[in-house]
Amino acid sequence: MSSEEKVKKYFQKKAIRFDTIYEENKSFSQKVVDRLFRQVVKDRFDLTFQKISELKGKTVLDVGCGSGRYTLEFVRKGAEKIVGIDFAHSMIDLANSYVKDLAEKERYQFICGDFMKYDFKDQFDYILAMGLFDYLRTPSDYLAKMKSLACGKIIASFPKRWTWRTPIRKIRLSLAGCSVYFYSRRDIERLLEENQINQYEIVNLSRDFILIADLGRKV
Ligand SMILES: C[S@@+](CC[C@H](N)C(=O)[O-])C[C@H]1O[C@@H](n2cnc3c(N)ncnc32)[C@H](O)[C@@H]1O
Repeated sequence: MSSEEKVKKYFQKKAIRFDTIYEENKSFSQKVVDRLFRQVVKDRFDLTFQKISELKGKTVLDVGCGSGRYTLEFVRKGAEKIVGIDFAHSMIDLANSYVKDLAEKERYQFICGDFMKYDFKDQFDYILAMGLFDYLRTPSDYLAKMKSLACGKIIASFPKRWTWRTPIRKIRLSLAGCSVYFYSRRDIERLLEENQINQYEIVNLSRDFILIADLGRKV
């Protein structure tokens, strides 16, 4: 089984557990584990909407959109069109269940598919990749494709190589049959150099680095 197939299989199984990270209503033990190991998932959500507050009339591509939590917020904040893509069916099912009552059906779309294989027809003002680079064997290829599709900003998270949580996460995921990759600030800078992206900010956010790359094209 390829590394991508393993990631897909992992998230097929873990969709509901992953999504409860965003919930307040959960067992005490889940609260403790999420607070200790996964608080960054909520923190990067808040940071994203601080960094891109101007959404009226903008288009967004959410790569590895998971359960669609960002999409819901992008719709609420007035983005014109949001496309979420994820190759785990159970994630897309959850995402569809969250948006089913929204009136603005024409403003969002979920695609169940592999980002690298999907042929997008449009470019997007913003490309989001939260919790995605953690699972990528060939991160530079993904960044190159994102660059080709973005006309404004790319916002992406990268799990840090050196934190006390890193070995625990590495062991937990390899026992579950899923590879996980970690990055130093220099690794991210190298990826950006390889893809000739020169305008960017890297924010230090607990377990993650958050990249905000500005492609300087007209949005
Ligand atoms: C940790 S989850 C993050 C979900 C969401 N971005 C969030 O932060 O709430 C990562 C997601 O990326 C998806 N994924 C990984 N590689 C992918 C690929 N090549 N194409 C589409 N989805 C992918 C996984 O299925 C998983 O749902």
